[in-house]
Amino acid sequence: MKVLGIESSCDECAAAVVEDGTRILSNVVATQIPFHAAYKGVVPEIASRKHTEWIYTVVKEVLDTAGLKPGGIEGVAAASRPGLLGSLIVGLSFAKSFAWARGIPFIAVDHMLAHLYASQLDFGDRTAACSSAGADKPAYPFLGLLVSGGHSIICRAGAFDEVAVLGTTMDDAVGEAFDKVAKHYGFGYPGGAVIDRLAGSGDADAFRFPVPNLHKGEHRYDVSYSGLKNAVINQLEQFRTRPSRGGEAEKADIAASFQKTAVTILLRALFNAAEDTGLATVVAGGGVAANSCLRALLAGRKDLRCFFPPPEFCGDNGAMIAGIGCRYLERGDFSPLSTTAQARVTDFKKKRP
Ligand code: KG4
Ligand code: ZN
Repeated sequence: MKVLGIESSCDECAAAVVEDGTRILSNVVATQIPFHAAYKGVVPEIASRKHTEWIYTVVKEVLDTAGLKPGGIEGVAAASRPGLLGSLIVGLSFAKSFAWARGIPFIAVDHMLAHLYASQLDFGDRTAACSSAGADKPAYPFLGLLVSGGHSIICRAGAFDEVAVLGTTMDDAVGEAFDKVAKHYGFGYPGGAVIDRLAGSGDADAFRFPVPNLHKGEHRYDVSYSGLKNAVINQLEQFRTRPSRGGEAEKADIAASFQKTAVTILLRALFNAAEDTGLATVVAGGGVAANSCLRALLAGRKDLRCFFPPPEFCGDNGAMIAGIGCRYLERGDFSPLSTTAQARVTDFKKKRP
């Protein structure tokens, strides 16, 4: 069963064809980064225009690479939530039109559930390098760690479409903290990958940044990043008033110290959840799951079986959408052509008191 997956929730215009839920036949990601870099962040208006401009070419390329005509596709899946509305609508409308024109099922997919599904895809020779459990695929139930530019979610996944949120962020998402810190320091955009790279030559113990005190009671699995983000940005002000500091070495030290603290916050909540639920399998997904510090510390926990997709499948891609789309298709679970986009999913964020 071959499914076309379309992903356009943010600044990646992406599509893929996946067979039987695991085999990636082709995968194309057209990144808009150069168009947003000048603004040091995603400009929603530019993002939706670029998706409109590129979506046909991206889908055509993905079909050509797979050696398929539109008639070889048995279902079309697209991310319908959460994300930038104007961007989501482009991929969603294209997918619905494709499905209607071909007379095949359309499947609306939750972007975060798709990130969690990414570890079920087949990565061939690279599969073993994506886990601390050899070449096995993660078996349900497991603990999910969904970390991206808009979300930080710790959940119990009972099935590909059954997720109970245990903890989320109280304020900023972890990826957002990486992006904001990088923006203030002028490290580059997008911030996560730049900080990860810079941190490689820095001393992670050079600066001591605050870890929020959320380890008790109802917030045992929650995280918070605004305190850390502000502390790191405030450090920049100190550099400005003391010009002797703030050179290249200090920048690397800042990046490494921030990264280590950001990951520590995440892992403390995750390990609390592992301890309380007794779940010893952890599956990470989302752009921040590409982080080398996070991956190293997770892989180092010998009492847990940890899975993370190859770095390029942690970020937004069409394969995760097509893969989970296959699962819905297998059980005849289709979406109506009236399905619309949704910017937010209420369960994925904490309500402010
Ligand atoms: O999943 P994703 O591609 O898009 C969203 O759904 O948001 O995640 C993007 C986020 C950005 O905040 C980006 O800075 C972060 O993932 N990111 C990283 C790394 N690579 C991307 N954060 C930390 N370390 C990385 N290596
Ligand atoms: Zn994403």
